[in-house]
Amino acid sequence: MDATAQAQPNIALVKYWGKRDTRLNLPVTGSLSITLDALWTRTRVEFDALLRHDELRLNGAEDPATLARASACLDLLRRRAGTALRARIDTRNNFPTAAGLASSASGFAALVVAADAALGLGLDRRTLSMLARQGSGSAARSLFGGFVGMAAGQRDDGADAVAQPLLDAAAWPLAVVVAVTSDRRKHVGSGAGMERSRRTSPFYPAWLDSAAADLAAAQRAVQARDFAALAELSEHNCLKMHAVMQSSRPPLLYWNGATVDCMQRIRALREDAGEQVFFTVDAGAQVKAVCTPDAAPRVAAALAELSGVEQVLSSRLGEGARLLDDSEAP
Ligand code: DP6
Repeated sequence: MDATAQAQPNIALVKYWGKRDTRLNLPVTGSLSITLDALWTRTRVEFDALLRHDELRLNGAEDPATLARASACLDLLRRRAGTALRARIDTRNNFPTAAGLASSASGFAALVVAADAALGLGLDRRTLSMLARQGSGSAARSLFGGFVGMAAGQRDDGADAVAQPLLDAAAWPLAVVVAVTSDRRKHVGSGAGMERSRRTSPFYPAWLDSAAADLAAAQRAVQARDFAALAELSEHNCLKMHAVMQSSRPPLLYWNGATVDCMQRIRALREDAGEQVFFTVDAGAQVKAVCTPDAAPRVAAALAELSGVEQVLSSRLGEGARLLDDSEAP
């Protein structure tokens, strides 16, 4: 009754920022993302009749906050399996966990895939995506590789609020350079931040009104492999989300000075040096530069020399969550 799975974080180009139901974690708009390759979460889940509570180790250390969320997610799978067995969860990230790099997306995607196999449920990808969504909205997308679309869905039970693959990683091989900027401040988490924006930002209604058009335009750009169109749309959608965040009360200002410097440098690389590159930023200070693979070393070098950039990570696009051999357990 044990299994090991791997999932990679995904980066949204059309963002999810707002829920229509907080209990089932239903997004109010659809979103579109790319799944990374080089960053991963590996998780082993073992159900054990001797355990009285779930246990979790993240990078070798106990983590009560993550354990509570993981337990709630496992409850969904236990209910389907008709078991009350508790589990030992061992999970590891090969990238900085607290740095706002979507560790909850890869974390919940790996958890549902491992728990499904450990319980012998054999659930389909759509169902696994739905279960991962209840752990963290963005995790629904990490079930799939390459370019992924996430539907807001219309049903009250959330059965249609699931992700689906749009285009394989190999069909349009792009690269992502992540600039990790120094940022010591504690931020409001995504879920709480979205609720604050919904209640207080005067721009929230406009954000919702324009979401479907942004999503359709991004899907067209992906299908046409139109880099310039995807770049313009993604930067617009990202800055629009941050305008909603920043106009919330109290404001959600996730950027630091280096975040802005990275965005300016990326724009200069595109507009002055002709590189195929654009930026996106999530609920944190890190900047993700999406570019063609040939541009990636130059983009990485340009960002690494900015003061305030602590680390630069490079990745290609990768596969969805999958099972691993026991030999690859964390
Ligand atoms: C800014 O998926 O972390 O990265 O559903 O509350 O766990 P919860 O939120 P989460 O939010 C991600 C927000 C975002 C945009 C995105 O990934 O679409």
